[in-house]
Amino acid sequence: MFKLNHDLLGRSLLNIRSLTDAELEYMVDLAIALKARRQAGIRGDLLHRRNIALIFEKSSTRTRNSAAIAVRDEGGHAEFLTGHDTHFGVKESVADSARVLGRLFDGILFRGFEQRTVEILAARSGVPVWNGLTDESHPTQFLADMMTMREAFGEVRGKTMAYVGDGRNNVANSLMMGCAKAGINFVNVTPRELFPAEDLVEEARAMAARNGATVRVETDPVAGVKGANVLYTDVWVSMGEEDKKAERLALLRPYQINMPLCEATGNLGRELIFLHCLPAFHDHNTDVSRDTGALEVTDDVFESEFSKVFDEAENRMHTIKALYVSALCEASEF
Ligand code: CP
Ligand code: NVA
Repeated sequence: MFKLNHDLLGRSLLNIRSLTDAELEYMVDLAIALKARRQAGIRGDLLHRRNIALIFEKSSTRTRNSAAIAVRDEGGHAEFLTGHDTHFGVKESVADSARVLGRLFDGILFRGFEQRTVEILAARSGVPVWNGLTDESHPTQFLADMMTMREAFGEVRGKTMAYVGDGRNNVANSLMMGCAKAGINFVNVTPRELFPAEDLVEEARAMAARNGATVRVETDPVAGVKGANVLYTDVWVSMGEEDKKAERLALLRPYQINMPLCEATGNLGRELIFLHCLPAFHDHNTDVSRDTGALEVTDDVFESEFSKVFDEAENRMHTIKALYVSALCEASEF
């Protein structure tokens, strides 16, 4: 039996700060319990007749489908909305759309550009709002990352993650904050031009210190990954930054995760996993990497037995379900 914490009823997730350290851990425990429930073949009614609006300004494979399946698995419904077929933020302000959608739906999951948009949705809709990625942060991704680390290591506290790549993007920001909350040492390995904002680093350092962990920013890939248990990377060009492609490729080539870099951790063959939020440019099979070959990770690492990227992708669904259940389900246990 899993006991639900009713303190989280009605709660939004706008960034990792929305959860206390203990709530973050609870959310991953809940996701693990929900995964076991699904693996036991149970499709229940924890979200019976709940309706979730999925507002997507940017493309998505994992988040969109996880967000839809998570509510359907437990008896609810998701409605997919884009800027092309609604008035959202075009003919109608975000605040007005929020007030309308809040009267119809039980919750809203948003993916888009500005963090301000998800904040307005939460402030004006009156229902829980979950951030499915903005330019600044990707908190639902961190929940799946933490769950995957828990599955791999049991305990995550005291482990070290080296994130190698674009050090100031949404995924890097949420990893830095999330690791600090979870007591995971975090090293952001990135060129000086892509350093994360200093105020975020300071905030994460203070959180990490509370949890006996450290946050470092390092320009040298080999020195940066030493001692890492988790090597993490993301695309070098995030959605909305397509005009930066040539500049990013030139800056980030030395930051590719390949087997020599895995060896430089000193943990290859022992306690090392590879994570990537996906989609990834690891071979010649996408429009971008057809002309360039592997970018942020080589195929041998991506396809290795220590690569947990597809567990991580699946865990997007279980963790989003945990957010829905914690915010909307009034049952005391399942
Ligand atoms: N990791 C992630 O957010 O994937 P999608 O862009 O496919 O949703
Ligand atoms: N940083 C990437 C993450 C994709 C899931 C982007 O924003 O495009």
